Amino acid sequence: MADAVVATEGLTFYYGRQRGIENVSLSIQPGEVFGFLGPNGAGKTTTQRVLLDVLRPQRGRATLFGLDSRKEGVAIRRRVGYLPGELSLPKTLTARQFLESMARIRGVTDRRLLYDLCERLELDPSRRLRQYSRGNKQKVGLVAAMLHQPELLILDEPTSGLDPLVQQTVLELVRAARAEGRTVFFSSHVLSEVQAVCDRVGIIRAGRLVAVERVDTLVKQQFRRLHLTLDRLPPMDAFEKLEGVRELARHEKRISLEIRQNLDAAMRTALEYGLLDIEEQPVTLEDIFLAYYGNHGGKENGNA
Ligand SMILES: Nc1ncnc2c1ncn2[C@@H]1O[C@H](COP(=O)(O)OP(=O)(O)OP(=O)(O)O)[C@@H](O)[C@H]1O
Ligand SMILES: [Mg+2]
Repeated sequence: MADAVVATEGLTFYYGRQRGIENVSLSIQPGEVFGFLGPNGAGKTTTQRVLLDVLRPQRGRATLFGLDSRKEGVAIRRRVGYLPGELSLPKTLTARQFLESMARIRGVTDRRLLYDLCERLELDPSRRLRQYSRGNKQKVGLVAAMLHQPELLILDEPTSGLDPLVQQTVLELVRAARAEGRTVFFSSHVLSEVQAVCDRVGIIRAGRLVAVERVDTLVKQQFRRLHLTLDRLPPMDAFEKLEGVRELARHEKRISLEIRQNLDAAMRTALEYGLLDIEEQPVTLEDIFLAYYGNHGGKENGNA
């Protein structure tokens, strides 16, 4: 805990009477990529803004590199690259002028990384910022956040608005940052990208951090939910007797299964009873969390 790059305790922020976040306690270790997942309005952006002292918490505290977020904001910001969720860029500058000035402010003399990032993200920096599309503005924001190779990257939905190939490039940049020993705090809506690059993930819902878990632990908990329509009704234990298969419900000849293992055996059983239809219900990371915490009672991160 002592050498965490980011640590918060009971962080609480209200926009007037509107709940932003409540009692968020988390810690992010050096070299870790920490994913922050949650639905719209959950409090991801608010948490990150409080860390950067853009918002002052009513309760709780945060440290970055062991420094108090409220007292040492200047020293902290020097060591952080931040991609805000809502970028505001100076409209009349070109992207090149803007990024060059960011590099100067950051004390970066070697501009190779800046132009290398532009190239990798397929950003042409020669146009005025007001002329860029949303995705291209996002790229400018990413280059600005990364050009000084900060120890900590705080990225608010860095892949949003980007096309799939560029999204992959962003994820590669995150992986590269970690390979260099840097720390990343990464908010997202997208399970697959969190799974692809994060070491741990925190789930925030309605302002509260409801769970924190290692991604590899969760991935091992992955399951499918299938709804099968059969021609004949199988005995009650036909699926339940298979290891890793649970029958969740049956309505007439439609049977809902949760399958962790033995998909082949479950399908063979279904075929014996005349498989008429099969439908897969997408499983979200939140479902995996809920099932996991349901099965591992008491492991919930103590924030409630
Ligand atoms: N400027 C604001 N004034 C009042 N309430 C706000 C303001 N910004 C955010 N909120 C509220 O704070 C809560 C958390 O919002 P926040 O933007 O942190 O969520 P988020 O997880 O980043 O959501 P999204 O996925 O949509 O970006 C929401 O209830 C939101 O309505
Ligand atoms: Mg947000």
